[in-house]
Amino acid sequence: MNLGESILLRAEQKGKLREFVTAVSVEKFHTDFGIIDLEELLQKEVGDTITSHMGQEFVIQKPRMPDHFKYAKRTGAPMIPKDIGSIIAYTGLNKEDSVLDAGTGSGILAMYLGSIAKHVVSYEIRDEFVDVARKNMERAGLDNVEVRCGNIVDEIATLDEKFDVVTLDTIDSKDVVSNVRKVLLPGGFVVTYSPFIEQTKAIRAGMAEVGFVDVLTIENIEREISFSDRGSRPATTRVGHTGYITIARM
Ligand SMILES: C[S@@+](CC[C@H](N)C(=O)[O-])C[C@H]1O[C@@H](n2cnc3c(N)ncnc32)[C@H](O)[C@@H]1O
Repeated sequence: MNLGESILLRAEQKGKLREFVTAVSVEKFHTDFGIIDLEELLQKEVGDTITSHMGQEFVIQKPRMPDHFKYAKRTGAPMIPKDIGSIIAYTGLNKEDSVLDAGTGSGILAMYLGSIAKHVVSYEIRDEFVDVARKNMERAGLDNVEVRCGNIVDEIATLDEKFDVVTLDTIDSKDVVSNVRKVLLPGGFVVTYSPFIEQTKAIRAGMAEVGFVDVLTIENIEREISFSDRGSRPATTRVGHTGYITIARM
């Protein structure tokens, strides 16, 4: 393995799984199962094991996006996989695409987009959140996600880049959609994500005003199924409402 490479360390103890996401370095990594000398990873491959000073064995794996979703540093509520999945599927995001995203937040959506698309530019208004998101990108090994500090409402007015997909997850997305057409490539998609229906209605009105005709709003309902000796059924504790996704195309 190489210095800086992102890794997932997994250990099982007494039927419980413990996982840690870190990177290959010359430092020591402290866990409640003992200290791991990360420098030893330079002599290892994915699938090998590494042992802590307390004798606990960890399997070395390559983290995937769901691992980054679980273990990335958070600055606020991130978008969750069920909604990210819809954005990817409805826009047909692919490896040729350039994406404009805002606000970055912890960068969870931007990371998933970056794991598929060619290039992602993501704007975050708060510079302390920008720092965290940039570290999350680095830890995930995503050098194609550029996190910029700025207010998307102002930035989009002067941007001279063009994008295949624009994703907006900010409280003021309705003030951004009026300028989205000028940064979208022909056939490109804009997607907004809003927790409230009132925001969604304002976004849809803004989209209609600038000539988007084919506008779709969806809400995803996901139900986990719980299994026990008594029987199997949808879990009684579940993810409730997250947000409304609105999708429009140039
Ligand atoms: C709900 S969070 C985004 C979560 C993100 N999509 C994720 O998956 O981690 C909204 C973020 O937008 C930022 N924000 C709000 N208004 C903004 C604006 N006008 N321009 C850029 N960022 C903005 C906030 O600071 C916050 O971090």
